[in-house]
Amino acid sequence: MKKETEEKLARALTAETTELIPFLPYLLQDLWELGSCPQDMIKLIKKYVPISKDTKILDIACGKGPISIRVAENFGVNVYGFDLLPDFIKRAKEKAREFNVEALCHFTCADANEIVNTETGYDCVIFGGAGDILGNPQETLNKLRGTVKQGGFILIDEAYLSDSSSNDEVNYKNYDYLTQKQWMELFDKCGLKFIEELHSGEDYDFDHDNKVIAARAEELSKKHPDKKALFDGYVQSQLNESADLENSLVGVTWILQKL
Ligand SMILES: C[S@@+](CC[C@H](N)C(=O)[O-])C[C@H]1O[C@@H](n2cnc3c(N)ncnc32)[C@H](O)[C@@H]1O
Repeated sequence: MKKETEEKLARALTAETTELIPFLPYLLQDLWELGSCPQDMIKLIKKYVPISKDTKILDIACGKGPISIRVAENFGVNVYGFDLLPDFIKRAKEKAREFNVEALCHFTCADANEIVNTETGYDCVIFGGAGDILGNPQETLNKLRGTVKQGGFILIDEAYLSDSSSNDEVNYKNYDYLTQKQWMELFDKCGLKFIEELHSGEDYDFDHDNKVIAARAEELSKKHPDKKALFDGYVQSQLNESADLENSLVGVTWILQKL
């Protein structure tokens, strides 16, 4: 794997160093959803995306498949999910069986930067909480745009700076966050119509996630005492990220349409 891809993979899962990558499936084993809000995605699809038996949905960086599986369950359509981590893809397949949607969910281990070149003609693409793995915001929007048909839809889970905040106040920062206005300008520039935004993070129970991750980090520290600082650092990054989403960032789910 390229060094840059590895670094972005680590950062997309709130890890500040690639040394944590082998431990991420263990640290995150108690969580199914890893970033985005499947309920908001479902609400937006229900409201705007015309569904037929031929509708095809792409889920880029699908993680353990929480969005794909709920989309298949709610709409009975085929969903194609891709993620770089084999452990997550394995778990996504198990979950699809558990929810009786394995015939509709097609999960594959692959790099998002490669599949955006080969997966095209979709009715809708989902990009949930995966940060900058496809590049800067403009590159990300253009790559996602390329995967859907004319008139197709793009759902993105992201975060932007709240009105009163600046990037200096963000504790866990992979990259500089844009403001909502900057994102809206980029949508225009990339030929994407903004349709609606839902504020996902407001009711989210970050405490629960932070506690289960901290418990797994403690187990790992006992097993690998030489790496305690690494695992403690991961727990701190999670705390910083959730504090940012409560204080200086606004977590959103957008639905956009390709013009
Ligand atoms: C924050 S998680 C979100 C997962 C899922 N969308 C969800 O909402 O639960 C980010 C995901 O991006 C995946 N990822 C990171 N880099 C990737 C890449 N280059 N190609 C595919 N997936 C990647 C990670 O493995 C991880 O599952």
